[in-house]
Amino acid sequence: MKALVFGGQGEKRLLELPIPDLKAPSDAIVKVKKTTICGTDLHILRGDVPTCAPGRILGHEGIGIIEKAGSGVTAFREGDLVLIACISSCGRCEYCRRGMYSHCTTGGWILGNQIDGTQAEYVRIPHADTSLYRIPPGGDEEAVVMLSDILPTGFECGVLNGKVAPGGTVAIVGAGPIGLAALLTSRFYSPAEIIMVDIDKNRLQMSGKLGATAIVNASNGQASEKVMELTGGRGVDTAIEAVGVPASFITCEKIVAPGGTIANIGVHGVKVDLYLERLWSQNITITTRLVDTVTMPMLLKTVQSHKLDAKALITHRFQLDQILDAYDTFSQAASTRALKVLINA
Ligand SMILES: NC(=O)c1ccc[n+]([C@@H]2O[C@H](COP(=O)([O-])OP(=O)(O)OC[C@H]3O[C@@H](n4cnc5c(N)ncnc54)[C@H](O)[C@@H]3O)[C@@H](O)[C@H]2O)c1
Ligand SMILES: [Zn+2]
Ligand SMILES: [Zn+2]
Repeated sequence: MKALVFGGQGEKRLLELPIPDLKAPSDAIVKVKKTTICGTDLHILRGDVPTCAPGRILGHEGIGIIEKAGSGVTAFREGDLVLIACISSCGRCEYCRRGMYSHCTTGGWILGNQIDGTQAEYVRIPHADTSLYRIPPGGDEEAVVMLSDILPTGFECGVLNGKVAPGGTVAIVGAGPIGLAALLTSRFYSPAEIIMVDIDKNRLQMSGKLGATAIVNASNGQASEKVMELTGGRGVDTAIEAVGVPASFITCEKIVAPGGTIANIGVHGVKVDLYLERLWSQNITITTRLVDTVTMPMLLKTVQSHKLDAKALITHRFQLDQILDAYDTFSQAASTRALKVLINA
């Protein structure tokens, strides 16, 4: 089968490899139909993810058809069309029983990281019963791919943790696929204002189309001043950090209103200053989270019922044998205007 393999820092290759086989009774082999590339795959290629060893097939998003189900798999059978969660979960360990699948003691984010991933013709999915979701007949397959990672991430880490509420004021710092997923799913709760902050004009323009009530270009270093002006000096009830660098988190610290929440989504590689000398008295909450994917069934229903336009995030389409071009397009988003690139396997 064809597979995109990580070759160490800065290296990736499209190789011909053997089709994976079952390793445990709870495994399933899925024939991948569609997959995509995540910003986290670029982090791996930059050498930022030490758990991912050279030789690993990348990818943690996708849909496909069950090719083979282990003897312990009871929820699915050969031929079923399924959505793959980016987080694998056993459903039984202490963390899974608390709904914290991201910290499953024999799962979590392992796909395309510690075990081979979805950017291939076939993938082995451990804990198949609890890590796959059936796609209802007639489901829009392209839209559903957006549910493997980015929509649950924006929703769980940003919107739910950020306590977005009717009439509330939200700012989302970072308008990449994750920030835009937070924008789309914030709208479930009808906040009065959704202010999008980024440095990329295309992405800000896209934010306007997807329901932002105001956009702020942060490239002049005055983003927080502008958000304060837009909110009459009060700040926002929810500040969602969707970048993963100190500057964007500090913007959130500056714009959170008294009683508000800073919901961090970004993966941070370096420490960030916390201005407690000002924030200690502001009754704020700061949250962090690795996506649990517990909201995938709910999000699947919102896509099915056309309440969530997940497909709006797809800008480019490729075949699996063009995946190196897909990586180039995705990694040069400022010039290619790429958000999510869809890959047909
Ligand atoms: N917590 C989780 O479980 C989880 C899951 C998936 C991804 N992530 C993380 O979420 C973050 C966002 O992911 P993405 O794929 O959308 O990334 P991305 O790189 O495509 O988007 C980030 C956006 O931030 C903008 N930006 C950069 N500096 C900025 C600044 N100072 N102020 C405002 N905007 C700025 C960029 O122009 C870009 O549009 C990443 O750090 C990613 O690793 C977290
Ligand atoms: Zn991802
Ligand atoms: Zn578990």
